[in-house]
Amino acid sequence: MKEKVRVGIIGTGGIAGAYARAYHELEDLVEVVGLCDIVPDKAAAFGERFGFDKAKTFEDHQKMLERLKLDAVSVSTYNTAHAGPTIDALDAGLHVICEKPMSVTLDEAVSMAKAAKKNKRMLSIGFQTRYDPNVKALRDLVQSGILGDVYYVETGGGRRRGIPGKTFISKEEAGFGAIADIGCYPLDMALNALGYPKPLTVSSYAADFMGKNPKYAVGPKGRNWDPAEFNVEDFGVALVRLEGGLVLNFKIAWSMHMDTLGPAMFLGTDAGLKATSDYVGPYGGGWGAIASMELFHDIQGHTTYSPIPVQERQRNVFTEKVRDFVANIQRGGEAPIPGLQIVRNQAVIDGILRSAQTGREVSIDIPEI
Ligand SMILES: NC(=O)c1ccc[n+]([C@@H]2O[C@H](COP(=O)([O-])OP(=O)(O)OC[C@H]3O[C@@H](n4cnc5c(N)ncnc54)[C@H](O)[C@@H]3O)[C@@H](O)[C@H]2O)c1
Repeated sequence: MKEKVRVGIIGTGGIAGAYARAYHELEDLVEVVGLCDIVPDKAAAFGERFGFDKAKTFEDHQKMLERLKLDAVSVSTYNTAHAGPTIDALDAGLHVICEKPMSVTLDEAVSMAKAAKKNKRMLSIGFQTRYDPNVKALRDLVQSGILGDVYYVETGGGRRRGIPGKTFISKEEAGFGAIADIGCYPLDMALNALGYPKPLTVSSYAADFMGKNPKYAVGPKGRNWDPAEFNVEDFGVALVRLEGGLVLNFKIAWSMHMDTLGPAMFLGTDAGLKATSDYVGPYGGGWGAIASMELFHDIQGHTTYSPIPVQERQRNVFTEKVRDFVANIQRGGEAPIPGLQIVRNQAVIDGILRSAQTGREVSIDIPEI
């Protein structure tokens, strides 16, 4: 059997727990040898909580990269601290799985993808939604050509009261709000189904009425926040032009007085595909969890539709994304969710925020990588 992959975790906050559980499930393949968090003692407490007794702990990721012989790191810091540790780890010759959204700015995402290319290391981004069998089925249908030429796509999702609080509501830590936090998932679902066409222009609108209003400053699991400190957006809509004449309509809300912002849809010259997402209470809302799918098509001149069977969403999608990453390190494969591709997701988000700030359509220019 091949040697276990030696990993370090950078950022031992909330989602690092999901990495801890995944690494435990995959202990035949992987060994957690380092834990790092800038908050003193946080990495040690995390190690104790998740039973990583032998892991060394650090407050500075560079020290961890220098002192431990690592093969890979998972970067689960808040968004504004994705790019730095990711680039440092790639430059140190390690493979990286970095949480979504890839970064805060397009420039950062480009630098991360360049570092992966220069060092010939994997950079995979944390879209576990791709391991949902229904998301895979949706992509397969779109890729099969059954829709003809796709010319219009709608994607997005919404929560009734789902502002996550914590570091997510601060521009300094999260960089942005709903548009990137949950919006990056339905964007990935649609763009990946289409083969990640290049984004060209975007016109958008963003709002922050819910997060700033003390009446609604109650999040899931009792996570409240000070509305005066809320300085990101909680709602966004955008019209994005993609190469090949495609138009994408995107809508996302962390919190709103509505149950849904509508289904995802793909309109093609031969057929259309509609996917609705679960509405799962006040916190829920779709960003990739598909509840139903229907194909709208004609049979011998009659307009009709066919339901596409959906499977129950698998619970272990997070472990599956980590397994693929680790397994590809062992077999010398490619990044399962390539940073190079996700740069386009980040470019759309970057464009949405620029357009919302200026109130005008902006062009999206992705530098050569
Ligand atoms: N894939 C998913 O399902 C999922 C779910 C939730 C969050 N996320 C993503 O995971 C990331 C973290 O979210 P979270 O909820 O865990 O946030 P969090 O604020 O709970 O944790 C982030 C941790 O990173 C630490 N940190 C920040 N800068 C650091 C640095 N330079 N070096 C080491 N540690 C550093 C912080 O001290 C904190 O402990 C975000 O990008 C978020 O979008 C992904």
